[in-house]
Amino acid sequence: MLKKIENLLNEIKSFDSKDLNKIEEFRIKFLAKKGIINNLFSDFKNVPNEQKKLVGQKINELKNLAIEKVNNLKSKISSNNKFAEKIDLTLPGDSIKIGSRHPLSIVRNQIIDIFNRLGFTISEGPEIEDDYHVFSALNFPDEHPARDMQDTFFIEKNPDVLLRTHTSSVQVRTMENQKPPIRTISPGRVFRNEAISARAHCIFHQIEGLYIDKNVSFADLKQTLLYFAKEMFGKNTRIRLRPSYFPFTEPSAEMDISCNLCGGKGCNVCKYTGWVEILGCGMVDPNVLKSNNIDANEFTGFAFGMGIERITMLKYGIKDLRLFFENDIRFLEQFKSAY
Ligand code: DAH
Repeated sequence: MLKKIENLLNEIKSFDSKDLNKIEEFRIKFLAKKGIINNLFSDFKNVPNEQKKLVGQKINELKNLAIEKVNNLKSKISSNNKFAEKIDLTLPGDSIKIGSRHPLSIVRNQIIDIFNRLGFTISEGPEIEDDYHVFSALNFPDEHPARDMQDTFFIEKNPDVLLRTHTSSVQVRTMENQKPPIRTISPGRVFRNEAISARAHCIFHQIEGLYIDKNVSFADLKQTLLYFAKEMFGKNTRIRLRPSYFPFTEPSAEMDISCNLCGGKGCNVCKYTGWVEILGCGMVDPNVLKSNNIDANEFTGFAFGMGIERITMLKYGIKDLRLFFENDIRFLEQFKSAY
């Protein structure tokens, strides 16, 4: 009997086939109810007692080997079917398309980074605002045209609920929640009821800056903005401040930088003046400090606000504002940056 089992063991070991029918035949031959192995178990009672232990072990070994063989051969076939015929493992892999950040996000992050280095923190406020935070607390007279329906998207009237037209509203919220010294920038979306064109959109992005402390002067403002301009547009960039008017600053100015596209020589972007306007700024009007319970005799401050689209267009030479909102991949994938 042991000899017989030994032969069967060899037969099982050497069996190989890729044909499911042959494997099934093999299984029936050895493992079916009336198969060889069960027959061996039936014959077991005839084995002399002293051999029972060894023979029992051998038959079990035989059985396990046969089961293992059938399973292995079957799984080989099914994995071959799944992959080998369909996939050519020698083909080069598909390259994974990595997305890119939106140019407005890149430039926003860059601006934030520059002001972070000067100690400015980030603060944010709501896009849906009220008249007080967008206008009244910023010293806008009641009849100021910016409050007009033509500029502002109103959600409700009396009391007014509206979409903020500028991020200056976050100045007010910051002053409500913090005592000076305050040094913060506020990036965010703003909304104006404008016809959409290459130069205007009803949604755009701004970054507001606010610095309030003792002895903050116009020279601090100028130096801060000069640093920003050089970091953003290159170290040869020059700035100039032109007197202007904003209700919330006194004195107020608009800042130009030397045109970064022609280096100040004159081109169609700077309309052959060599300068391009990038932001509004000024010293925080004492009325604004007072509305927010900050002692205007003790503290002074400066503020500035810039459009992120404008900066991005200048930085990358983009001529049409609408491109930022169309999400055309051919446009977006041109912007790769660590920011
Ligand atoms: N809020 C102004 C605007 O939307 C921009 C601005 C100008 C912000 C002067 C300021 C500032 O903080 O001081 O056009």
